[in-house]
Amino acid sequence: MRHNRDKFQNECDTLTNMQDMKAFSNKIILVTGATDGLGKEVASYFAEQQATVLLHGRNMDKGEAARLELMEKTGNQNLRYFNADFASLSDVREMADQILADHQQIDVLINNAGIGVRTLEAKREVSSEGHELRFAVNYLSHVLLTFRLLPLLKRAAPSRIINVASAGQQSIDFGDVMLENDYDDWHAYQQSKLAQVMFTIDMARELKGSGVTVNCIHPATLMNTKLVYDSPFFDIPASTVEEGAKAVEYLAISPALEGVTGKYFDGKKVAEPNPQAHNRDARRRLWELSMKLIGL
Ligand SMILES: NC(=O)c1ccc[n+]([C@@H]2O[C@H](COP(=O)([O-])OP(=O)(O)OC[C@H]3O[C@@H](n4cnc5c(N)ncnc54)[C@H](OP(=O)(O)O)[C@@H]3O)[C@@H](O)[C@H]2O)c1
Repeated sequence: MRHNRDKFQNECDTLTNMQDMKAFSNKIILVTGATDGLGKEVASYFAEQQATVLLHGRNMDKGEAARLELMEKTGNQNLRYFNADFASLSDVREMADQILADHQQIDVLINNAGIGVRTLEAKREVSSEGHELRFAVNYLSHVLLTFRLLPLLKRAAPSRIINVASAGQQSIDFGDVMLENDYDDWHAYQQSKLAQVMFTIDMARELKGSGVTVNCIHPATLMNTKLVYDSPFFDIPASTVEEGAKAVEYLAISPALEGVTGKYFDGKKVAEPNPQAHNRDARRRLWELSMKLIGL
Protein backbone atom coordinates (compact mmCIF):
# COMPACT_ATOMS: atom_id res chain seq x y z
CA MET A 1 0.00 0.00 0.00
CA ARG A 2 2.75 2.37 1.10
CA HIS A 3 4.74 1.40 -2.01
CA ASN A 4 1.75 2.23 -4.29
CA ARG A 5 1.25 5.62 -2.65
CA ASP A 6 4.94 6.50 -3.11
CA LYS A 7 4.76 5.33 -6.73
CA PHE A 8 1.65 7.48 -7.31
CA GLN A 9 3.36 10.48 -5.70
CA ASN A 10 6.45 9.95 -7.89
CA GLU A 11 4.31 9.77 -11.01
CA CYS A 12 2.51 12.99 -10.02
CA ASP A 13 5.85 14.69 -9.38
CA THR A 14 7.15 13.53 -12.75
CA LEU A 15 4.01 14.77 -14.48
CA THR A 16 4.22 18.13 -12.71
CA ASN A 17 7.89 18.40 -13.60
CA MET A 18 7.17 17.56 -17.24
CA GLN A 19 4.39 20.15 -17.36
CA ASP A 20 6.65 22.70 -15.67
CA MET A 21 9.49 21.89 -18.08
CA LYS A 22 7.15 22.32 -21.02
CA ALA A 23 5.89 25.59 -19.57
CA PHE A 24 9.44 26.79 -18.94
CA SER A 25 10.74 25.96 -22.39
CA ASN A 26 8.70 28.90 -23.73
CA LYS A 27 9.87 31.32 -21.05
CA ILE A 28 12.61 33.91 -21.26
CA ILE A 29 14.30 34.86 -17.99
CA LEU A 30 16.86 37.68 -17.68
CA VAL A 31 19.14 37.59 -14.64
CA THR A 32 21.51 40.50 -14.04
CA GLY A 33 24.72 39.65 -12.19
CA ALA A 34 24.49 36.01 -13.31
CA THR A 35 28.24 35.40 -13.31
CA ASP A 36 28.54 34.68 -9.59
CA GLY A 37 26.72 34.11 -6.30
CA LEU A 38 22.95 34.35 -6.13
CA GLY A 39 22.42 35.37 -9.76
CA LYS A 40 24.41 32.40 -11.07
CA GLU A 41 22.51 30.00 -8.81
CA VAL A 42 19.13 31.36 -9.99
CA ALA A 43 20.25 31.28 -13.63
CA SER A 44 21.36 27.67 -13.17
CA TYR A 45 17.92 26.73 -11.83
CA PHE A 46 16.10 28.23 -14.81
CA ALA A 47 18.63 26.71 -17.21
CA GLU A 48 17.85 23.31 -15.69
CA GLN A 49 14.16 23.95 -16.36
CA GLN A 50 15.08 24.49 -20.03
CA ALA A 51 13.96 28.14 -20.09
CA THR A 52 15.78 30.57 -22.36
CA VAL A 53 18.09 32.32 -19.90
CA LEU A 54 19.70 35.67 -20.64
CA LEU A 55 22.74 35.96 -18.41
CA HIS A 56 24.26 39.33 -17.67
CA GLY A 57 27.69 40.21 -16.33
CA ARG A 58 30.37 42.89 -16.58
CA ASN A 59 33.31 40.74 -17.62
CA MET A 60 33.09 39.07 -21.02
CA ASP A 61 35.45 36.16 -20.18
CA LYS A 62 33.77 35.40 -16.86
CA GLY A 63 30.34 35.70 -18.49
CA GLU A 64 31.14 33.34 -21.37
CA ALA A 65 32.71 30.88 -18.92
CA ALA A 66 29.53 30.96 -16.79
CA ARG A 67 27.36 30.43 -19.88
CA LEU A 68 29.42 27.44 -21.06
CA GLU A 69 29.50 25.96 -17.54
CA LEU A 70 25.70 26.16 -17.21
CA MET A 71 25.21 24.85 -20.74
CA GLU A 72 27.35 21.80 -19.96
CA LYS A 73 25.71 21.26 -16.58
CA THR A 74 22.10 21.53 -17.81
CA GLY A 75 22.24 20.58 -21.49
CA ASN A 76 20.32 23.80 -22.20
CA GLN A 77 21.41 25.33 -25.52
CA ASN A 78 19.27 28.45 -25.05
CA LEU A 79 21.60 30.46 -22.86
CA ARG A 80 22.78 33.90 -24.02
CA TYR A 81 25.28 36.21 -22.41
CA PHE A 82 25.08 40.04 -22.38
CA ASN A 83 27.97 42.17 -21.15
CA ALA A 84 27.47 45.58 -19.53
CA ASP A 85 29.17 47.40 -16.69
CA PHE A 86 26.31 48.76 -14.62
CA ALA A 87 28.59 51.56 -13.45
CA SER A 88 27.79 53.05 -16.85
CA LEU A 89 24.29 54.03 -17.99
CA SER A 90 25.42 54.01 -21.60
CA ASP A 91 26.51 50.35 -21.20
CA VAL A 92 23.05 49.58 -19.80
CA ARG A 93 21.36 51.33 -22.77
CA GLU A 94 23.49 49.35 -25.22
CA MET A 95 22.68 46.06 -23.52
CA ALA A 96 18.95 46.86 -23.50
CA ASP A 97 19.11 47.69 -27.21
CA GLN A 98 20.79 44.33 -27.93
CA ILE A 99 18.09 42.48 -25.99
CA LEU A 100 15.33 44.46 -27.72
CA ALA A 101 16.84 43.56 -31.08
CA ASP A 102 17.20 39.84 -30.27
CA HIS A 103 14.06 39.04 -28.28
CA GLN A 104 10.31 39.56 -28.51
CA GLN A 105 9.44 39.04 -24.85
CA ILE A 106 10.77 38.70 -21.31
CA ASP A 107 8.74 36.67 -18.83
CA VAL A 108 10.86 37.34 -15.75
CA LEU A 109 13.39 40.10 -15.17
CA ILE A 110 15.57 39.52 -12.10
CA ASN A 111 17.43 42.72 -11.18
CA ASN A 112 20.15 41.14 -9.05
CA ALA A 113 23.60 42.57 -9.91
CA GLY A 114 25.13 44.43 -7.03
CA ILE A 115 28.17 45.46 -5.08
CA GLY A 116 28.43 45.27 -1.33
CA VAL A 117 30.59 46.79 1.35
CA ARG A 118 34.23 46.57 0.41
CA THR A 119 35.99 48.89 2.82
CA LEU A 120 35.60 50.44 6.23
CA GLU A 121 37.46 53.53 5.05
CA ALA A 122 35.61 56.52 3.61
CA LYS A 123 36.53 55.77 0.01
CA ARG A 124 33.74 57.16 -2.15
CA GLU A 125 33.60 55.93 -5.77
CA VAL A 126 31.49 57.20 -8.65
CA SER A 127 30.01 55.77 -11.85
CA SER A 128 30.93 56.87 -15.40
CA GLU A 129 28.23 59.53 -15.15
CA GLY A 130 29.56 60.74 -11.77
CA HIS A 131 26.83 59.20 -9.61
CA GLU A 132 27.71 57.59 -6.28
CA LEU A 133 28.72 54.04 -7.26
CA ARG A 134 26.37 51.85 -5.19
CA PHE A 135 23.38 54.08 -5.95
CA ALA A 136 24.35 53.77 -9.64
CA VAL A 137 25.09 50.03 -9.88
CA ASN A 138 22.63 48.55 -7.39
CA TYR A 139 19.74 50.89 -8.12
CA LEU A 140 19.85 53.41 -10.97
CA SER A 141 21.15 51.13 -13.73
CA HIS A 142 18.36 48.65 -12.97
CA VAL A 143 15.74 51.42 -13.12
CA LEU A 144 16.98 52.29 -16.59
CA LEU A 145 17.13 48.63 -17.69
CA THR A 146 13.60 48.00 -16.41
CA PHE A 147 12.15 50.98 -18.30
CA ARG A 148 13.94 50.04 -21.51
CA LEU A 149 12.72 46.44 -21.34
CA LEU A 150 9.11 47.23 -20.40
CA PRO A 151 7.80 46.63 -23.94
CA LEU A 152 9.13 43.04 -23.78
CA LEU A 153 7.73 42.45 -20.30
CA LYS A 154 4.33 43.84 -21.31
CA ARG A 155 4.27 41.63 -24.38
CA ALA A 156 4.89 38.56 -22.17
CA ALA A 157 2.25 39.49 -19.55
CA PRO A 158 1.56 38.01 -17.10
CA SER A 159 5.22 38.65 -16.38
CA ARG A 160 7.26 39.51 -13.32
CA ILE A 161 10.06 41.83 -12.22
CA ILE A 162 12.04 40.87 -9.12
CA ASN A 163 14.33 43.47 -7.54
CA VAL A 164 16.93 41.80 -5.33
CA ALA A 165 17.21 44.30 -2.48
CA SER A 166 18.30 43.58 1.09
CA ALA A 167 17.16 43.84 4.69
CA GLY A 168 20.06 46.29 5.09
CA GLN A 169 18.23 49.56 4.36
CA GLN A 170 18.92 53.14 5.38
CA SER A 171 16.76 56.17 4.69
CA ILE A 172 17.80 58.52 1.91
CA ASP A 173 18.91 62.05 2.78
CA PHE A 174 17.64 64.08 -0.17
CA GLY A 175 20.09 66.85 0.70
CA ASP A 176 22.98 64.48 -0.12
CA VAL A 177 21.82 61.52 -2.20
CA MET A 178 25.26 61.17 -3.80
CA LEU A 179 26.83 60.95 -0.33
CA GLU A 180 29.39 63.68 -0.82
CA ASN A 181 29.61 64.22 2.94
CA ASP A 182 30.56 61.68 5.62
CA TYR A 183 30.77 58.84 3.12
CA ASP A 184 30.83 55.19 4.14
CA ASP A 185 30.28 52.01 2.09
CA TRP A 186 27.66 50.53 4.41
CA HIS A 187 25.53 53.68 4.25
CA ALA A 188 25.91 53.74 0.45
CA TYR A 189 24.91 50.08 0.15
CA GLN A 190 21.92 50.44 2.46
CA GLN A 191 20.50 53.56 0.80
CA SER A 192 20.80 51.89 -2.62
CA LYS A 193 18.85 48.90 -1.30
CA LEU A 194 16.08 51.07 0.16
CA ALA A 195 15.93 52.93 -3.15
CA GLN A 196 15.17 49.58 -4.84
CA VAL A 197 12.30 48.99 -2.40
CA MET A 198 10.86 52.48 -2.95
CA PHE A 199 11.11 52.05 -6.73
CA THR A 200 9.31 48.70 -6.46
CA ILE A 201 6.31 50.30 -4.75
CA ASP A 202 5.99 53.12 -7.31
CA MET A 203 6.69 50.90 -10.30
CA ALA A 204 3.89 48.56 -9.19
CA ARG A 205 1.51 51.53 -9.30
CA GLU A 206 2.87 52.60 -12.68
CA LEU A 207 2.32 49.08 -14.07
CA LYS A 208 -1.20 48.62 -12.68
CA GLY A 209 -3.39 46.82 -15.20
CA SER A 210 -0.47 45.89 -17.47
CA GLY A 211 -0.16 42.29 -16.24
CA VAL A 212 3.44 42.98 -15.17
CA THR A 213 4.04 42.62 -11.43
CA VAL A 214 7.07 43.91 -9.54
CA ASN A 215 8.27 42.84 -6.11
CA CYS A 216 11.51 43.09 -4.18
CA ILE A 217 13.26 40.72 -1.83
CA HIS A 218 15.84 40.22 0.88
CA PRO A 219 16.89 36.76 -0.37
CA ALA A 220 18.66 35.47 2.75
CA THR A 221 21.03 36.89 5.36
CA LEU A 222 24.79 36.76 4.76
CA MET A 223 24.85 34.09 2.07
CA ASN A 224 28.11 32.38 1.16
CA THR A 225 28.90 34.65 -1.80
CA LYS A 226 31.87 36.85 -2.65
CA LEU A 227 29.82 39.91 -1.70
CA VAL A 228 30.01 38.60 1.88
CA TYR A 229 33.50 37.01 1.75
CA ASP A 230 35.05 40.18 0.28
CA SER A 231 33.63 42.44 2.95
CA PRO A 232 35.56 43.47 6.05
CA PHE A 233 32.17 44.26 7.55
CA PHE A 234 30.78 40.73 7.80
CA ASP A 235 32.30 37.86 9.80
CA ILE A 236 31.05 34.63 8.27
CA PRO A 237 28.27 33.50 6.01
CA ALA A 238 25.10 32.72 7.94
CA SER A 239 23.08 31.16 5.12
CA THR A 240 23.59 29.56 1.74
CA VAL A 241 23.17 30.87 -1.77
CA GLU A 242 20.80 27.94 -2.40
CA GLU A 243 18.47 29.26 0.31
CA GLY A 244 18.46 32.76 -1.20
CA ALA A 245 17.97 31.38 -4.71
CA LYS A 246 14.92 29.35 -3.65
CA ALA A 247 13.28 32.51 -2.31
CA VAL A 248 14.01 34.45 -5.52
CA GLU A 249 12.69 31.55 -7.63
CA TYR A 250 9.54 31.51 -5.50
CA LEU A 251 8.91 35.19 -6.29
CA ALA A 252 9.63 34.55 -9.96
CA ILE A 253 7.31 31.60 -10.56
CA SER A 254 5.04 30.71 -7.65
CA PRO A 255 1.36 30.61 -8.70
CA ALA A 256 0.59 31.76 -5.13
CA LEU A 257 1.99 35.18 -6.07
CA GLU A 258 -0.09 35.70 -9.21
CA GLY A 259 -1.13 39.37 -9.24
CA VAL A 260 0.85 40.18 -6.07
CA THR A 261 2.78 43.39 -6.72
CA GLY A 262 4.59 46.24 -4.98
CA LYS A 263 5.63 44.11 -1.99
CA TYR A 264 8.86 43.66 -0.07
CA PHE A 265 9.66 40.05 0.85
CA ASP A 266 12.05 38.71 3.46
CA GLY A 267 12.71 35.28 1.97
CA LYS A 268 9.30 33.93 0.96
CA LYS A 269 7.30 36.13 3.34
CA VAL A 270 5.93 39.66 2.87
CA ALA A 271 7.79 41.94 5.31
CA GLU A 272 7.99 45.57 6.44
CA PRO A 273 10.69 47.67 4.78
CA ASN A 274 12.37 50.76 6.29
CA PRO A 275 9.56 53.26 7.14
CA GLN A 276 10.81 55.74 4.50
CA ALA A 277 9.46 53.33 1.86
CA HIS A 278 5.96 54.31 2.99
CA ASN A 279 6.67 58.05 2.78
CA ARG A 280 5.00 59.23 -0.45
CA ASP A 281 6.89 62.48 -0.55
CA ALA A 282 10.25 60.68 -0.25
CA ARG A 283 9.25 58.23 -2.96
CA ARG A 284 8.14 61.07 -5.25
CA ARG A 285 11.48 62.80 -4.75
CA LEU A 286 13.42 59.64 -5.49
CA TRP A 287 11.29 58.91 -8.57
CA GLU A 288 11.74 62.43 -9.96
CA LEU A 289 15.49 62.37 -9.31
CA SER A 290 15.83 58.92 -10.89
CA MET A 291 13.89 59.86 -14.02
CA LYS A 292 16.07 62.95 -14.39
CA LEU A 293 19.30 60.97 -13.94
CA ILE A 294 18.36 58.28 -16.46
CA GLY A 295 17.03 60.87 -18.89
CA LEU A 296 13.34 59.91 -18.94
N1 LIG B 1 25.11 37.87 -0.13
C1 LIG B 1 24.14 38.22 0.70
O1 LIG B 1 24.09 37.77 1.85
C2 LIG B 1 23.05 39.16 0.26
C3 LIG B 1 22.07 39.53 1.20
C4 LIG B 1 21.06 40.40 0.79
C5 LIG B 1 21.02 40.85 -0.51
N2 LIG B 1 21.98 40.46 -1.39
C6 LIG B 1 21.90 40.99 -2.76
O2 LIG B 1 21.98 39.91 -3.67
C7 LIG B 1 22.51 40.37 -4.92
C8 LIG B 1 23.59 39.40 -5.39
O3 LIG B 1 24.63 39.41 -4.45
P1 LIG B 1 25.65 38.19 -4.26
O4 LIG B 1 25.78 37.99 -2.81
O5 LIG B 1 25.30 37.07 -5.13
O6 LIG B 1 26.99 38.90 -4.75
P2 LIG B 1 28.15 38.41 -5.76
O7 LIG B 1 28.41 36.96 -5.57
O8 LIG B 1 29.26 39.37 -5.56
O9 LIG B 1 27.50 38.61 -7.21
C9 LIG B 1 27.20 39.89 -7.66
C10 LIG B 1 26.93 39.87 -9.16
O10 LIG B 1 26.75 41.25 -9.60
C11 LIG B 1 27.74 41.52 -10.62
N3 LIG B 1 28.19 42.92 -10.59
C12 LIG B 1 28.84 43.56 -9.60
N4 LIG B 1 29.16 44.82 -9.99
C13 LIG B 1 28.71 44.98 -11.25
C14 LIG B 1 28.76 46.03 -12.21
N5 LIG B 1 29.37 47.20 -11.97
N6 LIG B 1 28.17 45.83 -13.43
C15 LIG B 1 27.59 44.66 -13.71
N7 LIG B 1 27.52 43.62 -12.87
C16 LIG B 1 28.07 43.77 -11.64
C17 LIG B 1 28.89 40.58 -10.28
O11 LIG B 1 29.77 40.47 -11.40
P3 LIG B 1 31.27 39.87 -11.17
O12 LIG B 1 31.07 38.39 -11.19
O13 LIG B 1 32.04 40.37 -12.33
O14 LIG B 1 31.76 40.40 -9.86
C18 LIG B 1 28.12 39.31 -9.94
O15 LIG B 1 27.66 38.69 -11.11
C19 LIG B 1 23.01 41.79 -4.67
O16 LIG B 1 22.08 42.71 -5.19
C20 LIG B 1 23.06 41.87 -3.15
O17 LIG B 1 22.88 43.20 -2.68
C21 LIG B 1 22.99 39.64 -1.06
